[in-house]
Amino acid sequence: GCLGGDGDAATLTAATAPGFPPFELKEGGELVGFDIDLLEAVIEETDYTLGSWEEFEFDSLIPALKNENVDVVAAAMTINDERDQTIDFSDPYYSADQSILVAEDAEFEPATLDDLADRPVGAQSGTTGEDVVEDQLIANEIISEGQYNSYGNYVLAVEDLLGGNIDAVVLDTPVAQTFASNRPVTVAFVYETGENYGFGIREGATELQTGLNEGLQAVRDDGTYEDITAKWFTE
Ligand code: ARG
Repeated sequence: GCLGGDGDAATLTAATAPGFPPFELKEGGELVGFDIDLLEAVIEETDYTLGSWEEFEFDSLIPALKNENVDVVAAAMTINDERDQTIDFSDPYYSADQSILVAEDAEFEPATLDDLADRPVGAQSGTTGEDVVEDQLIANEIISEGQYNSYGNYVLAVEDLLGGNIDAVVLDTPVAQTFASNRPVTVAFVYETGENYGFGIREGATELQTGLNEGLQAVRDDGTYEDITAKWFTE
């Protein structure tokens, strides 16, 4: 079930891009995570119902929204100007920066972007991590274009980091910390970007936007947001 544009309250098709723990990941074949719980709780608060979850690579999410294959994206997607020109977003629901992840046993301890000079670096295609690689590392000639390795998801990038094919991965801090807690990798340093995640919707879907924003406020007010945070972010 898909909303044409700004139709009556209806059944929503949700989309995400797993491989981004703890926001969205596969556990025993099942799609789980902070974003999954949060969007489901938010939709509970609205007149909409959730039909199904569809999985995409991250850079296919905005096209899927535009093609009306899906109605709402919950994928730790950063609200930024470029995306805001083609889709709309809910209010922010989570804040993040970028982190530089390295292999624990590599004896490579960068402290600044300049320390990544001439190193092979990885990021997920279409992400704000990739923006840091392109707009900072490549634009400032710290690394060459050929030294940038792009991946369909960050699980593959971390595998390549552990395999020694790349020396660093640039990704959202909460996800970097999650990998660091369950793989032999460590956060070398944080590159502050001050990003905010929002649920992505089709441009002009203002009724849905209002519904999601009211739902977000309701789950913040009744403690559900806090419970979901505690479930996925253990200290
Ligand atoms: N926050 C970053 C961005 O919006 C990365 C999001 C990646 N999300 C995912 N589900 N793989 O570009």
